Amino acid sequence: MFEQISAIKESLQAQKIKNQAELEQFRLTFLSKKGKISELMPLIGKAANEEKRIIGQLINDVKQLAQGIFESAQTELENSGPIIKKATDDLTLPVLPFNQGGLHPLSKVLDEIKAVFFRLGFSIADGPELEDDFHNFTALNFPPEHPARDMQDTFFVRKDEEGKSDLVMRTHTSPVQVRLMQSQKPPIRSIMPGRVYRNESITAKSYCLFNQVEGLYIDKNVTMAELKETLIVLAKMMYGADVKYRLRPSFFPFTEPSMEMDVWWERKDGSRWLEILGAGMVDPNVLTACGVNPDEYTGFALGLGVDRMAMLRYGLNDIRDLYENDVRLISQFA
Ligand code: DAH
Repeated sequence: MFEQISAIKESLQAQKIKNQAELEQFRLTFLSKKGKISELMPLIGKAANEEKRIIGQLINDVKQLAQGIFESAQTELENSGPIIKKATDDLTLPVLPFNQGGLHPLSKVLDEIKAVFFRLGFSIADGPELEDDFHNFTALNFPPEHPARDMQDTFFVRKDEEGKSDLVMRTHTSPVQVRLMQSQKPPIRSIMPGRVYRNESITAKSYCLFNQVEGLYIDKNVTMAELKETLIVLAKMMYGADVKYRLRPSFFPFTEPSMEMDVWWERKDGSRWLEILGAGMVDPNVLTACGVNPDEYTGFALGLGVDRMAMLRYGLNDIRDLYENDVRLISQFA
């Protein structure tokens, strides 16, 4: 009885399964209903009562052994097969399209603008998009009745006890100039990029939000000639040495004198001038409101429209294209 069991155990240990056919043969020989292990079962019945438990245990051990050999041989055979198991795996098929991301046209143009100003020695500064009336208007020399404070242009966020607006979505990046002058002693030479908000009707030319870059240079004896040169260098570096531009006199409450710069926009459906920025010599009233002595310091400021400059660079006709994030347009910039 015991010999019969240990003979099967020995023959199990001697087994070498090399392929599927041998695996099946092993299963039939040892593990099937008519296999050698099933044939051992009646031994339990025939055994003397005190031996039944031991015999049962031994048979069970042999069964476990056979099952273990079968399973490990099975996994080994599966893993050692060829990599392509399914007939549908075709390594010659083209790979799935891989969408590479890219920078948004506004970010690209902004990076170029920053690079120009960094070369000219400007640093970068930042301010809040939710502004108070003082920084957005009063310190910048806007008279109380100025139309730019009107509901048409400004998103008013909160009014004070007297009913006057005291928090607005900033309508331009110029309030960051004020914050810089309040917190930093001249010389100051910084650019301040950011989003601005206007309560205008949305058309191809205007959107409720857009991007500006403010520039501020305050020092002793800063002149208008330096401002003009800065603007011309900017236009040439952005649009090439032969760019067609013009500087026009203009008006802003916070600069005196003031000017605007236009760049010639070559278009199939009618070329025209496109205004890209406003600029001027900082008004002495603004310097005083910000704690800078106008008898000691002068300076220039400028505010450029990043969206306009992007439209000019990429020939876009509709400002809304820059904010709707249509992948058909955006993917062209990847
Ligand atoms: N803040 C003006 C605007 O949004 C642009 C501007 C004009 C900024 C002249 C300036 C400046 O700093 O000097 O229309």
